[in-house]
Amino acid sequence: MKVGKSIISNNIKELIIRRPDDWHVHLREGLLLEAVLPFTARQFARAIVMPNLTEPVTNTIEAEGYRSLILKALAKENVTREFIPLMTAYLTDMTKASDLARGYSEGIFAAAKLYPANSTTNSAHGVSDMAKLKAVLNKMEDIGMPLLIHGEVTDAAVDVFDREAVFIRKILKPLINEYPKLKVVLEHITTSDAVDFVSSMKGKVAATITAHHLIINRNSLFQGGFQPHNYCLPVAKRERHRMALRKAVTSGDPWFFLGTDSAPHTIKDKETNCGCAGIFSAPSALELYATVFEEEGVIEKFENFASIYGPAYYGLEINAGTVTLTREECMVPQRVTVADGTEIKPFLAGKVLGWRLKDKP
Ligand code: DOR
Ligand code: ZN
Repeated sequence: MKVGKSIISNNIKELIIRRPDDWHVHLREGLLLEAVLPFTARQFARAIVMPNLTEPVTNTIEAEGYRSLILKALAKENVTREFIPLMTAYLTDMTKASDLARGYSEGIFAAAKLYPANSTTNSAHGVSDMAKLKAVLNKMEDIGMPLLIHGEVTDAAVDVFDREAVFIRKILKPLINEYPKLKVVLEHITTSDAVDFVSSMKGKVAATITAHHLIINRNSLFQGGFQPHNYCLPVAKRERHRMALRKAVTSGDPWFFLGTDSAPHTIKDKETNCGCAGIFSAPSALELYATVFEEEGVIEKFENFASIYGPAYYGLEINAGTVTLTREECMVPQRVTVADGTEIKPFLAGKVLGWRLKDKP
């Protein structure tokens, strides 16, 4: 397929790129789903939808059910633009290889997600021991089904800022040695350790990178008091790690691609004792990423990262059609209101960005 041409010069007024995809998003369910879905559908043609609902999506039937809820919500919210939710299976100690293979061959599942048990929001049902996944991983390797990994160990003795690096050393490397043909995406990477590891694999392993991990470091959690809206998992790391992530996305290496990990929680659930992890970036996702690429002086590399490398890794077609970003001021919404009156605060709410996603007439 021919790739769309971006209009790029030193003084560009607009950037036209192939319609991008979000390779990692949390859409939730119920009223929250209805509130957040139009943002993702406006920005992206497809999205890999995370299965960590309160009752996780663990098999083909549940995934079909969740997909139809998403399609219903699109209709209810009058989203006319085509948007394809790509469903994922939440792996548990009980996952059946045969069900996974059926869901994948029938086009219901695009991938399966590994949450080490208790690593993050709604992950209590996650995998307690990798040995229990042997049959599942053998099957996934056989059929080419991607394994998406939340790469953090859950051992309470490991410092929270080291959990990704320890996961890579102790779990991921042995996993890849055992299943050398398994298609792996290390999700929302946050460290130079992850960048170095993925780069060293030369395409055998891919990684998604969020906009927020490119923009904030761990100081932002504590600026002028605790900032719950900058809290997510994996937690933002030191500045040198943020710099490594920026180098990765601007490297032009095809194994790094866009995944927002937009993870909405209501303000009530964030600004409370034991507030939830998750940053809601969906309303301004493309504008945030474009700002980073421009700051790095490589806006011409944005299209590959946003629209080309992801489908290539997943073995899917690049989207037809384009989106246009114009060089105009655009404020991140202060709040998104849910139909029950609760509110969600987007990442960098109220900040004025220099790019605006243009709506199609
Ligand atoms: O910060 C996060 N929030 N990280 C995750 O892995 C899950 C997500 C959520 O579902 O809220
Ligand atoms: Zn996530």
